[in-house]
Amino acid sequence: MTAPQRKIFVSSALPYANGAIHMGHLVEYLQSDIWSRFQKLRGHRCTYVCAADAHGTPIMVKAREEKITPEQLVSRVSKEQLEDLRAFGVAFDNFHSTHSAENEELVGRIYTALREAGHIYTKSIEQAFDEKEKMFLPDRFVRGTCPRCKSEDQYGDACEVCGATYTPHDLIAPVSVLSGTTPVWRKSEHYFFRLSAFGTQLRQWMTRASLHQNITSKLEEWFEAGLQDWDISRDAPYFGFLIPGTKDKYFYVWLDAPIGYLASFLHLCRQRPDLDFDEYWASGANTEAYHFIGKDIVYFHTLFWPAVLAGSGLRQPTSVFAHGFLTINGKKMSKSRGTFINARTYLRHLDPNYLRYYYAAKLGPGMDDIDLSLDDFAARVNADLVGKLVNIASRCAGFISRNFSGRMSATLDDQDLFDRFAGASEQIAAHYEEREYSKAMRVIMSLADEANRYIEQKKPWLLARDPAQLADVQTICTQGLNLFRTLMIYLSPVLPSLAEKSRALFREKAWTWQSAAEPLLNHAINDYEPLLVRVEPAQLERIIEESRESTNVPIDVPANNPETPQISIDEFSRIDLRVAKILKAEAVEGADKLLQLTLDIGDGTRKVFAGIKSAYEPSALTGRFVVLVANLEPRKMRFGTSEGMVLAAGPGGKDIFLVSPDSGAQAGMRVK
Ligand code: MSP
Ligand code: ZN
Repeated sequence: MTAPQRKIFVSSALPYANGAIHMGHLVEYLQSDIWSRFQKLRGHRCTYVCAADAHGTPIMVKAREEKITPEQLVSRVSKEQLEDLRAFGVAFDNFHSTHSAENEELVGRIYTALREAGHIYTKSIEQAFDEKEKMFLPDRFVRGTCPRCKSEDQYGDACEVCGATYTPHDLIAPVSVLSGTTPVWRKSEHYFFRLSAFGTQLRQWMTRASLHQNITSKLEEWFEAGLQDWDISRDAPYFGFLIPGTKDKYFYVWLDAPIGYLASFLHLCRQRPDLDFDEYWASGANTEAYHFIGKDIVYFHTLFWPAVLAGSGLRQPTSVFAHGFLTINGKKMSKSRGTFINARTYLRHLDPNYLRYYYAAKLGPGMDDIDLSLDDFAARVNADLVGKLVNIASRCAGFISRNFSGRMSATLDDQDLFDRFAGASEQIAAHYEEREYSKAMRVIMSLADEANRYIEQKKPWLLARDPAQLADVQTICTQGLNLFRTLMIYLSPVLPSLAEKSRALFREKAWTWQSAAEPLLNHAINDYEPLLVRVEPAQLERIIEESRESTNVPIDVPANNPETPQISIDEFSRIDLRVAKILKAEAVEGADKLLQLTLDIGDGTRKVFAGIKSAYEPSALTGRFVVLVANLEPRKMRFGTSEGMVLAAGPGGKDIFLVSPDSGAQAGMRVK
């Protein structure tokens, strides 16, 4: 039974090219990668694209800070992002950039079509302007006191304390995040997209797209509130595409970002004659197109984007799938808690398969947040992947290698049992299709339980001692291996590299979903090599420790940060600052960033951990004077307790500078 081949376009949201991929992003990329791999395994024609989201103020500002061009920043960051995503097994068919010729071409085409159809108009608006930096400020670049609850230091668009939404104009005592100066209000001409004219079309699309209930209820709220026209322009200086016919107006990043999906696809089509852009994106195309996104960007993808497509005469997405946000140990990821974990930090310690499985075991089709609890992560991965799944193969393969020269038997021991495994195929496929990954994982793991019970009952290790029963050992282990093989095929969208290794064990060229339907019999296999080891809690601790932004020294506080609140002299005098002499500095086993310092503080010694290893040779520190916060609460760390903190400045890496008194200072002197 083969279903007709579908042609499917899949995208994941484009990561902003100004930071590293972290565990939260991975929810997005793993969810979509699993789906695209599943479709391909089923024999469909699925094309999975992504790109760097290159434009906008934050990227421009960050590049300025680093004294490089935005192009350089984007190219460096997106290269690293792609490497990290690949290491997690994310297999895009193409990863392009929104700052590309293809995107500029498509943005131009779409904008022209919108304008000619009368969907664009201009209007003068007033905005916060930073006179020192000579630029207009996006809402998030203005901070001030919330007009409603009076909480200080809130963003210009919404208050994180009381949830009020407003414009930067409403803020009390607004300040530019860039220069710390008070912004002025300036008028300029902006370009607007007439979103308000698309209400009916969007409602129709919403029904056609059979969006998840979580999304439709959001949309209903937005329709209820009334659709506002959308400001699609930004004034120079801006990193983006110039609006045709203007000298200093740029397209807002959120106009060209989703067009970047199409640009990435177009870029691929131009290399692959078998892919036709219009077959996927011309109006009336009967192929399928899906966007995977996070819940924070639903508005852009279910209102602006389908309206822009409709308004410019292109097809609309078949559907949009939105997931929730990641929490770690039940809380938002946090740098101080060490739970803001970058993909790369994870990769230094753990196999990506664990995370792929864990997310799959948690993901459903809705927008509920998903929690990565580190204890649960280790327990779940060890129990399911190592204890249940891999265990099936490791218990059976050895007998086949040792006693039967690696050849599996010509018949199964229990055909019915195999048929039950093969018979679960369509149910599991339906779960994947519906993005009910957690349900798919549950079905697969309950089959794995069955396989283990079977082996437990048959006890091949006992039978193997009796030459008369050796033939049974072969059919039993062949049975076990075939059950394992079936499950591994079902799991291959989730665990691609583990599936590869397993396929190599069976010496097969390729697997498709259909391969699970028939057992592999009278067939030679390779020697079993361990497929996966257990997660050790120490590995997780190390990840947390490495992710803690300032392990000991607060190297992340920028100088003259206008956001640091003032303190009184009383508050300051509560800090016991003392001159200390470094008696000994040693590397700490298992910690990449830390040195342990033994300090003479005049009336005794102290041991503190300092995150300065990247900048100092331990031997060069002996005898040096530093400044110690002597009355800081002792902090228990994995390596011992830190009894205070030494002061240092700088952004990190090689640029960390210990604060030292002038010569003549003695250990124990108070710093005031
Ligand atoms: N550049 C925009 C998307 C443009 S799409 C035309 C963007 N970039 S992002 O880097 O901030 O996020 C990329 C994706 O990762 C988004 O789908 C976002 O929802 C998702 N996530 C980012 N942080 C996340 C969590 N903490 N948890 C789950 N998903 C998260 O948005
Ligand atoms: Zn407030």
